[in-house]
Amino acid sequence: MTTAVEETLVLIKPDGVARSLTGEILRRIEAKGYSLVDLRMLQADRDLLAQHYAEHEGKPFYEPLVEFMESGPIVAIRLAGNRVIEGFRSLAGATDPTTAAPGTIRGDLARDWGLKVQQNLVHGSDSPESAQRELALWFG
Ligand code: TYD
Ligand code: MG
Repeated sequence: MTTAVEETLVLIKPDGVARSLTGEILRRIEAKGYSLVDLRMLQADRDLLAQHYAEHEGKPFYEPLVEFMESGPIVAIRLAGNRVIEGFRSLAGATDPTTAAPGTIRGDLARDWGLKVQQNLVHGSDSPESAQRELALWFG
């Protein structure tokens, strides 16, 4: 195990905010020992979302994903901690709410909406490069 203090971008997606799970998700993040460095609530526009999800452009789930992310307020968090990029994704669980392990945010709290796998409550950057790029997008 290594030591690497990192920052990552976490988003509480519109389903998390609408279902009043913001507090529960923040509680899990803080209980794990990660630090909230900055936090804001915003309604993301298409331009921001297109940049954020550029890697997925052209995939079949891209359009519904962007539409969903535009549908309501998002809480964006600059999160710091040792190996927080990998650690938050572990806390979040697998992308698909059905297979996300119990004990994870998605496994415990995200409902199986059938085809709407995009409603999985949270986003977390997947690498140091993504984290840097995404933090610049959401926090300038
Ligand atoms: P991805 O970056 O692969 O997942 P993660 O959020 O775990 O990093 O995909 C981005 C989002 O796109 C994901 O959270 C939910 C949505 N998505 C779908 O709707 N269908 C899919 O088949 C995949 C892979 C993702
Ligand atoms: Mg991803």
